[in-house]
Amino acid sequence: MRFPVLSALILLSGVSSSAADKKDKPSSYSIERTLVKETGDGSGKEFVHNNVTYYIAKPSPANPRTKARSDIAVLYLTDVYGLPLPENQRLMDSFAMAGYLTVGPDLFQGVPAPNDINTPGFNTSVFLAKHTPEVTDPIVASAIGYLRDKLKVKKVAVAGYCYGGKYAFRFVAGGGAQQAIADVAFSAHPSLLTESEISAVSKPMAVAAAETDSLLNVTARSNMEVLLKETGQRYQVNLYSGTPHGFAVRANLSDPQQKYGKEESFVQAVRWFDTFFITNGV
Ligand SMILES: *[C@@H]1O[C@H](CO)[C@@H](O)[C@H](O)[C@H]1NC(C)=O
Ligand SMILES: *[C@@H]1O[C@H](CO)[C@@H](O)[C@H](O)[C@H]1NC(C)=O
Ligand SMILES: *[C@@H]1O[C@H](CO)[C@@H](O)[C@H](O)[C@H]1NC(C)=O
Ligand SMILES: *[C@@H]1O[C@H](CO)[C@@H](O)[C@H](O)[C@H]1NC(C)=O
Repeated sequence: MRFPVLSALILLSGVSSSAADKKDKPSSYSIERTLVKETGDGSGKEFVHNNVTYYIAKPSPANPRTKARSDIAVLYLTDVYGLPLPENQRLMDSFAMAGYLTVGPDLFQGVPAPNDINTPGFNTSVFLAKHTPEVTDPIVASAIGYLRDKLKVKKVAVAGYCYGGKYAFRFVAGGGAQQAIADVAFSAHPSLLTESEISAVSKPMAVAAAETDSLLNVTARSNMEVLLKETGQRYQVNLYSGTPHGFAVRANLSDPQQKYGKEESFVQAVRWFDTFFITNGV
């Protein structure tokens, strides 16, 4: 009498556990806010290719999310503080911990803005005048070329923050050389973004916006929403309360709303990339 019940139980538990395996497959959706690395040194490496310095963070082969992402890379485009900023290195490490090979080019030829832009002698407008799209576009294009040609990456997700956020838009624009275009983009509190750059978007685009941001104010943000809709592409715009410009990188972690915004905007980026690469847009 007991035997059939027991085997039915074993059978049931076998069925339900394999169904659960499929549902909770780490290669698809499960990603936690706690994954964001908030302390410690960067664990990636730097190297130089074609006179551009890169930071590279590689996913662990033991990570169950890595295998499904083996021909994909995240191209990380920094804020003005560049590769030396620990928060930038940790975010790149975090994308690697989410299973993505992650590469960040030095957009500033070894001279990023100082950690405190109020440092005497540093002039933001002079700095920005040096780093125009004419200077930065070729670096980003070369980085995408490196990923596709040298690392044999098939799909590129671009994640740009502040200064780099503008280039996340520029590198999912239609009309450029296909080889230099990313497949999906995420942009956190982009700065210096123009309306024509928004209208040119030709791939899925997600944005994390700060509540208080003179570089993307309420008017600019709502215009962006209208323009993104007009592109006909999939898009997502998340607004995080209690956050200032820069929060997705340099959040004040003692402030619960900023900490939440930083972690959740990272999860937003990973889920956005997963959606198009792993679950085919579902
Ligand atoms: C390489 O980049 C440096 C700036 O980082 C520049 O001074 C130098 O001229 C460049 N060299 C070549 C060969 O492009
Ligand atoms: C920065 O440089 C610009 C152009 O040279 C100058 O007009 C401006 O006053 C400078 N700003 C500061 C804070 O020094
Ligand atoms: C918002 O930003 C735009 C530039 O994107 C500027 O023209 C406008 O004056 C700003 N509005 C406010 C209220 O600051
Ligand atoms: C960070 O946030 C905490 C908590 O809100 C606040 O007390 C502190 O002054 C903030 N630090 C900075 C540098 O703004």
